[in-house]
Amino acid sequence: MSTPTPHNGAKLGDIAKTVLMPGDPLRAKFIADNFLEDVTCINTVRNMLGYTGTYNGKKVTVMGGGMGMPSIGIYSYELYHFYDVDNIIRIGSAGGITDDIKVRDIVIGMGASTNSNFAAQYQLPGTFAPIADFDLLRRAVNAAEQNDIKVVVGNILSSDTFYDDNKDANSLWKKMNVLAVEMEAAALYMNAARAGKKALCILTISDHVFTGESLSAEDRQISFKDMMKIALEAVE
Ligand code: HPA
Repeated sequence: MSTPTPHNGAKLGDIAKTVLMPGDPLRAKFIADNFLEDVTCINTVRNMLGYTGTYNGKKVTVMGGGMGMPSIGIYSYELYHFYDVDNIIRIGSAGGITDDIKVRDIVIGMGASTNSNFAAQYQLPGTFAPIADFDLLRRAVNAAEQNDIKVVVGNILSSDTFYDDNKDANSLWKKMNVLAVEMEAAALYMNAARAGKKALCILTISDHVFTGESLSAEDRQISFKDMMKIALEAVE
């Protein structure tokens, strides 16, 4: 049987209704190996590894989405439109922006501001506000509370640039209380909105844009585990 898209080798039915999407495909493999049961590899095209398995009996797929909005834009579009996926939960890292955000914190993007032109394709007569799905957000926050994991919920920035020529840009977003910067959520949220599907972005703070603080290897493991617990328990 041919596959629905040139970017994904999975066959229809190989992919669960909910996909967890780290940027790094090897992270997807790590999650499959360590958190899921009955795992099968469903994609190796471009090494964007994807696995379907179960967590507490619930079927879930974990697949890499790459770095940046064009990359997650392709994979999430195809999952929503060609593979009948309902929920995509991005799990990633971000740089803290506001003073109250510290490395090791877990931030959930209720909204995703962006410097990207991704929304231009919709030809809207104004600016679109990319937001998380409320149901997924509520489930994630409930899971965090039940497991005594602190989360900060608010606006994040999805940036097209990791190395930006304008060194003041983050200070301007900080004035608007944008908590942290990453590079994918806004495109994911827009694809979900256009498809009538659900998306959420959960982030561990790996570094701070202004203090220069960054996570130790040990803390990275702890916050990653906490983020995984929240994401997996948010799966319906
Ligand atoms: N910028 C963009 N993405 C990131 C960062 C950052 O500083 N840290 C982790 N992901």
